[in-house]
Amino acid sequence: MNVNRSSIFLSILVVFVLSFDQSEISRNELNETTVFNEIINWAKNGIQTPLFRDIINYLITPSKARHLDWSRLNSSEAGIFCVICKSLTKYFLALRRNDTSVEKIQEIAGNVCTLLNFQTETVCHGLIRINLPIILYIIDNEQSITHDDICGILLQNQECSDLSKKFDWAIDVNDDPPLVFDIYSTGKKLKILQITDIHYDPLYQPSGNADCDEPTCCRRGQNTNGKLNEKSAGFWGDYNNCDLPWHSIVDALEHIKTQHLTFDFVYFTGDIIDHGIWETSQQRNIESIKKCFTIIKNTFGDIPVYPIFGNHESHPLNLYAPDYIKNDSLSTEWLYELMADIWIEAGWLPPSVKDTILKGGYYNMSPRPGFRIISLNSNVCYIYNWWLFYDPQDPGGQLQWLADNLLIAEKNKEIVHILSHIPPGSTECQHTWSREYKKIINRFAHVIAAQFNGHTHNDEFNLFYNPNDSNQVINIVWNGGSLTPYANLNPNYKVYEVDNNSYVVQDIETWMYNLTEANENFLKRPNWFKSYSFKEAYNLEDLSKNSLNQLVDKMIKYSSILQIYHKNFFKHAAPSLKNECDNDCLKEYICRIVRSSSDDKSECNNLLLQFI
Ligand SMILES: *[C@@H]1O[C@H](CO)[C@@H](O)[C@H](O)[C@H]1NC(C)=O
Ligand SMILES: *[C@@H]1O[C@H](CO)[C@@H](O)[C@H](O)[C@H]1NC(C)=O
Ligand SMILES: *[C@@H]1O[C@H](CO)[C@@H](O)[C@H](O)[C@H]1NC(C)=O
Ligand SMILES: *[C@@H]1O[C@H](CO)[C@@H](O)[C@H](O)[C@H]1NC(C)=O
Ligand SMILES: *[C@@H]1O[C@H](CO)[C@@H](O)[C@H](O)[C@H]1NC(C)=O
Ligand SMILES: *[C@@H]1O[C@H](CO)[C@@H](O)[C@H](O)[C@H]1NC(C)=O
Ligand SMILES: *[C@@H]1O[C@H](CO)[C@@H](O)[C@H](O)[C@H]1NC(C)=O
Ligand SMILES: [Zn+2]
Ligand SMILES: [Zn+2]
Repeated sequence: MNVNRSSIFLSILVVFVLSFDQSEISRNELNETTVFNEIINWAKNGIQTPLFRDIINYLITPSKARHLDWSRLNSSEAGIFCVICKSLTKYFLALRRNDTSVEKIQEIAGNVCTLLNFQTETVCHGLIRINLPIILYIIDNEQSITHDDICGILLQNQECSDLSKKFDWAIDVNDDPPLVFDIYSTGKKLKILQITDIHYDPLYQPSGNADCDEPTCCRRGQNTNGKLNEKSAGFWGDYNNCDLPWHSIVDALEHIKTQHLTFDFVYFTGDIIDHGIWETSQQRNIESIKKCFTIIKNTFGDIPVYPIFGNHESHPLNLYAPDYIKNDSLSTEWLYELMADIWIEAGWLPPSVKDTILKGGYYNMSPRPGFRIISLNSNVCYIYNWWLFYDPQDPGGQLQWLADNLLIAEKNKEIVHILSHIPPGSTECQHTWSREYKKIINRFAHVIAAQFNGHTHNDEFNLFYNPNDSNQVINIVWNGGSLTPYANLNPNYKVYEVDNNSYVVQDIETWMYNLTEANENFLKRPNWFKSYSFKEAYNLEDLSKNSLNQLVDKMIKYSSILQIYHKNFFKHAAPSLKNECDNDCLKEYICRIVRSSSDDKSECNNLLLQFI
């Protein structure tokens, strides 16, 4: 199971991609010093010694494996990647601190990237061109940054190295006992729509090249090398690494409107921009963002939409700078300004939210008495947000703000929904941030009726357990899946039935279409259908914490339930389901469901003891 499919690994300084090659390389002959010297020798004199060739051969990526989930390495591989990460990073840090010119660094980084066949030459150079100014700013202005810190974060799940003290920080969470208050279910229902991960590609070309060498395909101008029999892009989208054409987005929104007539709220959990990550620009992003929010506003009219930032909205991808960085070519201010203005002008948010959006892309608001929506910009915790190396301590003061606002909500007896693009328990969310987030949930779980995430593109959910009682679920996170089929998925959205007073989710409908079928009948609009109701599919009385705890118990006992989960996870897309999911693969789902902090495997380990 390739669960981290949505994350294309983007490091320029360090390039680690799992190789299938049988290589002579072994852990013993590799240490930081030797590898570092090999790299210097090659960069200076162009000499490739046998050891250098071995390293390259080990790392070199068969193009087909580029999208491999390298975060699941075994310990011996992880050790080798760690040594190489550190050597390469140490080398680039030394180069810069040796006053090497930007042009020279750019050239060497480009050579490393293409030598390792990490991406095509165009993609390598594009990524380096747009990321390098920010990386150099960070290296120049944060002299204490070390290769141990950088690799310790990028390879945080491989325990590559211990981090400096500044990466270990904590926020103040009120330590009074939780003030539990009674909330009655009224029997009345709200309808909430979640749309997420649109990834609109303005360059999408039906019958374009669906089998390209870049991170995303089906785009105008991607050569086909004269191969005519190759896969060509479907009209409504494509299972290969392709995002959505405009007409598919129009169709989805029209369908949603005619099918469901109305909603009480719409949650949009981020990612508007396509995966053309090597050629984004502020201007292009602004155009796509405006276009998407305009059609969303036109579709839903007076229905309030609560949107958040995805990691793709920024330029370059993933980078959210601290608010005190004012230089236009480095800061994120343009994006914060743009979004705040669009959201306020649409009438979705009050002007008062602008302060916190400009500070760090987050806000909270109360749409009606007794109910509060807290919207986070969790992209700051994404390990590929280079600004983490610069200023890792509670970026933007967001988590402290979250804790403070939950305390206010508790005092006011308000129920909260939290929206966050990156799942805070994800292995790609920096450990400290993830740990502190969980600390907040532990204290305020009784106030939070539900959390909503995006980013993974998979249809899944996630549970927070009571740290004092591994049999008690204290919070539930729903992931909206994605409108984009990227990659090997069907497009989907979700409709939540929510209690009008307790704001607890009572059932979820997942709607989707079969991309194969849609493209076979491309003259007709796609046939959207209700894929399943959560309550029915898993045979539950309700979606309470208790019921979900029991569901996990049943999943451990009956693999047939996990098989259903597996198919839903990939939204029934044939290419993702062609390999069988065996016991080891099914087991992964349990861990993914119960892991709520990126550095904490205890829940998973507890439960796996019961797994046969
Ligand atoms: C690194 O390996 C080389 C040879 O493989 C060895 O001579 C050297 O002492 C090692 N250095 C360290 C720090 O282990
Ligand atoms: C780690 O994985 C590699 C390739 O997948 C394999 O060759 C190697 O034997 C594994 N090592 C261990 C210790 O499992
Ligand atoms: C830095 O400069 C010194 C002196 O020019 C040189 O010996 C050394 O190799 C340089 N380091 C790197 C990483 O290029
Ligand atoms: C902004 O940052 C860029 C990249 O570091 C730099 O080239 C430029 O001179 C800076 N502009 C100002 C006004 O400081
Ligand atoms: C866990 O136990 C500690 C110590 O008794 C208590 O302060 C905390 O509130 C408990 N956490 C939860 C989520 O019940
Ligand atoms: C839901 O609750 C709000 C007040 O919070 C009320 O105005 C509304 O009428 C209720 N909706 C239904 C369907 O009962
Ligand atoms: C999707 O449609 C194709 C073509 O009509 C069909 O072969 C396939 O079984 C369908 N997949 C599902 C999950 O229904
Ligand atoms: Zn996405
Ligand atoms: Zn994302």
